[in-house]
Amino acid sequence: MTAVGLPALKATGIRASYGVGEIIRGIDFEVAAGEVVVIIGPNGAGKSTFLRALYGLIQTTGLVMLGGQRIDDVAADRRLDLGLAFVPQGRCNFAGLTVLQNLEAALLRLPRAKRAAALESTLELFPPLRRLLRRRAGNASGGEQQLVEMAMALVSQPKVVLLDEPTLGLSPIASEFVFDTIKALRKTGTGVVIVEQNARQALEIGDRAYVFEQGVSRIVDRCDRLLGDRRIREVFLGGSVDDLPLTTES
Ligand SMILES: Nc1ncnc2c1ncn2[C@@H]1O[C@H](COP(=O)(O)OP(=O)(O)OP(=O)(O)O)[C@@H](O)[C@H]1O
Ligand SMILES: [Mg+2]
Repeated sequence: MTAVGLPALKATGIRASYGVGEIIRGIDFEVAAGEVVVIIGPNGAGKSTFLRALYGLIQTTGLVMLGGQRIDDVAADRRLDLGLAFVPQGRCNFAGLTVLQNLEAALLRLPRAKRAAALESTLELFPPLRRLLRRRAGNASGGEQQLVEMAMALVSQPKVVLLDEPTLGLSPIASEFVFDTIKALRKTGTGVVIVEQNARQALEIGDRAYVFEQGVSRIVDRCDRLLGDRRIREVFLGGSVDDLPLTTES
């Protein structure tokens, strides 16, 4: 279904904390170019914390390789320049600026000569943004703002993008558009890591998934297999994975 090659991002033995107590307790993780990897798991499992750890926002140990380059000792901002983008949960664009101005702010990271082409290829991925360019970002709908966030993260054509709950609070139609856009990202070769509450829809568009619980990765498998797995269906319905004979894989 997808051309999956060498890992675009590979993380080994990741442990992370906010200062007191370990939240992420030894996770191995990888995403290939053009692969969509889903992370699911109950509230408080450490999904958001794991993305923050990969991006270098919190105290973390372990090895993080991005396209063959070691980045775990690199500051978060610099990780973006190297090709790792992060879209945190919630909206954080500049509400008072227009959609175009927001995109232009993100484009400032690129050399001037590349900005026009980068804007154009981003708009090709996000056609609905074209008619919103002059609108104040704060007046756009929740779904439109999520697209703005994703577009801002993608203007620099990262190797890997980390998306934390991109459909949270969106209508079903807006969510569907976000999922469709994620599917389209495959063709660009970007590796996508998506943390999702909407596990079923995420598993339907994803290639592989990790199931986190209490700071560890309890299951790693192909999404299509997980969709058919009775134990995973129980998790979808809000059950605990505690008492289930889960497998752990590398
Ligand atoms: N800024 C913080 N400072 C201290 N502890 C935190 C902080 N953010 C999260 N935690 C703790 O880390 C643990 C994991 O939280 P995290 O937000 O990563 O979970 P999650 O899987 O993303 O959950 P959700 O599905 O609710 O978003 C929780 O016990 C949470 O209380
Ligand atoms: Mg979270």
